[in-house]
Amino acid sequence: MTDGLDGKTALVTGASRGIGRAIAIALATDGAEVAVNYNKSPERAYEVVDAIAKGGGSAFAVKADVGQEDEVLSMFEAIGDRLGGLDILINNAGIEMIGPLLESTNQDYDRLMDANLRGVFLCGREAIRRMVKQGRGGRVINISSDLGYLGREDFSLYCASKGAVLALTRSWAKEFAPDILVNAIAPGPIETDMLTPAHMPPEWIEKEKQIPLARLGQPEEVASVALFLAGPGATFVTGQTFGPNGGSVMP
Ligand SMILES: NC(=O)c1ccc[n+]([C@@H]2O[C@H](COP(=O)([O-])OP(=O)(O)OC[C@H]3O[C@@H](n4cnc5c(N)ncnc54)[C@H](O)[C@@H]3O)[C@@H](O)[C@H]2O)c1
Repeated sequence: MTDGLDGKTALVTGASRGIGRAIAIALATDGAEVAVNYNKSPERAYEVVDAIAKGGGSAFAVKADVGQEDEVLSMFEAIGDRLGGLDILINNAGIEMIGPLLESTNQDYDRLMDANLRGVFLCGREAIRRMVKQGRGGRVINISSDLGYLGREDFSLYCASKGAVLALTRSWAKEFAPDILVNAIAPGPIETDMLTPAHMPPEWIEKEKQIPLARLGQPEEVASVALFLAGPGATFVTGQTFGPNGGSVMP
């Protein structure tokens, strides 16, 4: 255990696996008390809570579909009861969707935007409302994607949702300065369930590696950036987008 986030409380959405799991563990290892949000997999969320406890940290699991307002509000109530406040929000939950525009349905659009954009809006609004009321500042870190800049054929809905997350980030950073710092992380290809043949054709996964560092990144390589943005070293950083992306984007 290190102690840069000692006394801080954090919510990580979609934290039962992948990048969210790695961020939850990194924040807890640095001393934060962490709410591990899950939607469909309580057993995987409890595994994350156990892993954190074994490392000497403190965490609990909390269910919510981030796209559903009633579930989000109940989650924040539970966090208030359990943690007494919130200092750090990591808006990580998200889904990927592959499909040509001409075959995309309104239902596809709604499903993707509910998880990737409405979820960021609902959790961000509620967290910031509470941070403003608490009056002790706060950090919001939104997980976007390098595809939010790059665009990609057959990924237009996903790219649009992630581009919108970058715009929300910059706007909130201006609206809530100087007390609440809002930043984004736009990862490149990261080796999680999202990038397995069950979710993505193997030829796409191979294509993902065609970046300067010529490999997929690991969730921990995103978590280290989130830890920096949540911590004492990032007090002059807001409205920025960080890219643990192996060089896929060089703005
Ligand atoms: N893996 C990559 O290459 C990559 C690259 C760039 C950005 N991202 C982004 O990183 C984030 C994490 O993705 P990952 O790679 O760990 O994928 P993942 O599929 O392993 O994890 C996503 C998590 O979000 C949860 N989730 C999805 N919809 C939810 C909802 N409505 N409510 C609550 N939880 C929900 C899932 O249950 C899962 O735990 C996502 O926002 C994703 O778009 C991933």
